[in-house]
Amino acid sequence: MDQSTNALPRTASQSVKIDCEKDLQGKVRILEARIPNDYRPDLTDTDYRPEGLDDSFYHKLGEGSTGIAVAAVRKVKGVFGDIQREKVVLKKYNITSFLANQVKDGYTSMLREFQNLQYLMHDNIAEMKDSFWSLDEKGNLNQVWIVTERMDFKLSDFFRHKAKNDHTATPHRRDHRHLGSILVQILRALDYLHQRGIMHRDVKPDNIGISKQCHLKLFDFGVARPTNTVKELTQLVSTPRYHPLEVQLLEPYDWGVDIWATGLVALEFLNHPFYPASVNSTDKIKQRILDVFGVPGDKYKEFFKYKLMNEVQRDGCFNAFLTTAFKRLAPGFRDFNEDNLRDLLSQMLCINPRRPLASVLLDHNYLRAVNSDMTRKHVQIPAHEHHAKNQRDKETLLKMLKNFSRQL
Ligand SMILES: Nc1ncnc2c1ncn2[C@@H]1O[C@H](COP(=O)(O)OP(=O)(O)OP(=O)(O)O)[C@@H](O)[C@H]1O
Ligand SMILES: [Mg+2]
Repeated sequence: MDQSTNALPRTASQSVKIDCEKDLQGKVRILEARIPNDYRPDLTDTDYRPEGLDDSFYHKLGEGSTGIAVAAVRKVKGVFGDIQREKVVLKKYNITSFLANQVKDGYTSMLREFQNLQYLMHDNIAEMKDSFWSLDEKGNLNQVWIVTERMDFKLSDFFRHKAKNDHTATPHRRDHRHLGSILVQILRALDYLHQRGIMHRDVKPDNIGISKQCHLKLFDFGVARPTNTVKELTQLVSTPRYHPLEVQLLEPYDWGVDIWATGLVALEFLNHPFYPASVNSTDKIKQRILDVFGVPGDKYKEFFKYKLMNEVQRDGCFNAFLTTAFKRLAPGFRDFNEDNLRDLLSQMLCINPRRPLASVLLDHNYLRAVNSDMTRKHVQIPAHEHHAKNQRDKETLLKMLKNFSRQL
């Protein structure tokens, strides 16, 4: 780019159609958008692509308050100069709706995702591959796209698949090694983030991808933020069911929220979720935590600033809860046994907000065997290569976004 002018680099682009499923009235919703020419619909994604969809259409993977996520493949050059197609997610943020104030924290969420992803590089975190934006007829920014690598499934879909026969005569018994591998991979991603002072704050099976080879990657950094700003941390906007007691009570919290949420993910693997379906409000969530864990005794009062004063101190029934959950496990062996798992989950799902570090948990007996072999290797891509790849787009985009949020 000519540095002497402010001209923005222009990318050759095409107009595409995205299938957004039917709306509540059963009307088909088709979205039109402009994206660069090196992207194509992923016709091989038979798991999520609707049957019979025209080959020229892209398909949607999910839709949140800030925009939609679309499946695609992207042409890239392999190491031998050959053309390869990599699977990606295009996450589209609709700036027009942010401006119209329809989405309260739209800008914050987009900037967090963007700022976090550009520096993160870990084998268990979905990598940002590209980013681009489009302008409207008046030259105003109207859409921003963030492109990340795409995993085969969401962990939540994988769990649903595993749970298919749970209420039949032949339920599927869960394997300790699977659970160990899932926990190790999530904890590795968290260890990496927490060491860099970042909390994810929205760890849940819907925000974790899994490949057919059981490789996990964490995504959705829309509410991730630095740990070191404790005094401003009272409002957490992500999914209340995954928030520990300190968040329910609007007390200060730290990276321990991610450890708690990871414990809940383990229970979902066993199809024994912590919350029955009837628990659907923050009051009921808090009550459920106190019912299962008991009301904390004096040694925890300091953390909760006597907010539980009116509750009578009592023991919970977490051990009994785990015993029921473990009925779905196949017999273990050596370190992979129920006693070890019970100890690990009791540390992660601990009412005391000072939960162990991810690095400490990775060294737990239950996980040590998995942590030392199959998934140990980290793909270390030098940070400067990653930066060089998208630097120009990112810097320009960030500048534009910053300008925009200041104007609001
Ligand atoms: N790396 C990925 N691999 C596979 N699927 C993904 C990936 N990233 C996103 N998805 C799919 O896209 C959906 C939406 O993505 P994401 O979770 O990042 O946004 P969101 O939940 O809509 O978040 P927000 O509320 O911040 O807009 C996910 O639920 C998942 O189905
Ligand atoms: Mg999400």
